[in-house]
Amino acid sequence: MAHASGKVILCGEHAAVYGRPALACGIARGVFAHATPSVPSSLWIDGQRIDEGTETHSAFQALCRELDVRDRRVDVQLQMPTGVGLGASAAMAVAMARALLDSSETADAVAEARILAAADAWERLFHGNPSGIDAATAYAGGCIRFQKGSDFRGIDLRQSFELAIAVAGPPSATREMVAQVAQFRERDPVTFEQQLDAITSLVDDAEQCLLALDWPRLGALLDHNQTLLAEWKLSTPEIEDCRQLAREAGAWGAKLTGAGGGGCVIALPGELGSDPILAAWSRAGYRCFSSSIATVR
Ligand code: PMV
Repeated sequence: MAHASGKVILCGEHAAVYGRPALACGIARGVFAHATPSVPSSLWIDGQRIDEGTETHSAFQALCRELDVRDRRVDVQLQMPTGVGLGASAAMAVAMARALLDSSETADAVAEARILAAADAWERLFHGNPSGIDAATAYAGGCIRFQKGSDFRGIDLRQSFELAIAVAGPPSATREMVAQVAQFRERDPVTFEQQLDAITSLVDDAEQCLLALDWPRLGALLDHNQTLLAEWKLSTPEIEDCRQLAREAGAWGAKLTGAGGGGCVIALPGELGSDPILAAWSRAGYRCFSSSIATVR
């Protein structure tokens, strides 16, 4: 069985679209895939066959073409929520690409590049022009520093840590949120550049905090990133509510993760751990869970 992780973006989303660095973490929940020879090729998700002519089937064909693998039945099992901005689509793509390469004789030393290219071919059908951060995180797991156009690298954590994750609403389309941010750039390029600089600097600081295991400061940086994202109108009342509840339950910091305009909130649990945060979110009716962020990629 091949596997790939779901993801959260710790900080730097949207700035990543402009070539700035971002930090992302693979979460414990993810996707499993298995490929077996079969004619014609078919894709099955949680036991349901995906019909030809659908967008998902076209994306599957694009992924197989990119890998140059034919005549396979691929079975996918989702062990994470979909459609909430946790990267289920990229995790599926990476798990399928791994399974297809495992099942073929063309597996080789450049598997990483091929898997990421195949995931990109899949993602383009759904997201237009993804920066690649979802696929890179699904591929690597652990915690990574990502920069569009350069290689991503794993951050060598000395200790795993936990994040609390709440679904604060249905996610907006990433494409629309990216376009919304682009309008801020058009209107005031000077301020926009300063905001990007501020995010880049907090991403650098956050990486140092991860290496030093400085959770209180990391939490403050997450809050600072949220303030900057809110200037681009990416927050919502539900996101702010989740942040407030997390703070009251002892979180060091909390922010939206991913495209914003809905979707998920991450909170860095304080000394009391994630239980009080999850309890507060559950009481308020938010779907939520915690995930350990692994030390190795
Ligand atoms: O896929 P999402 O919703 O987690 O957002 C991806 C992060 C963005 O920076 C908003 C877009 C991108 O392609 O980097």
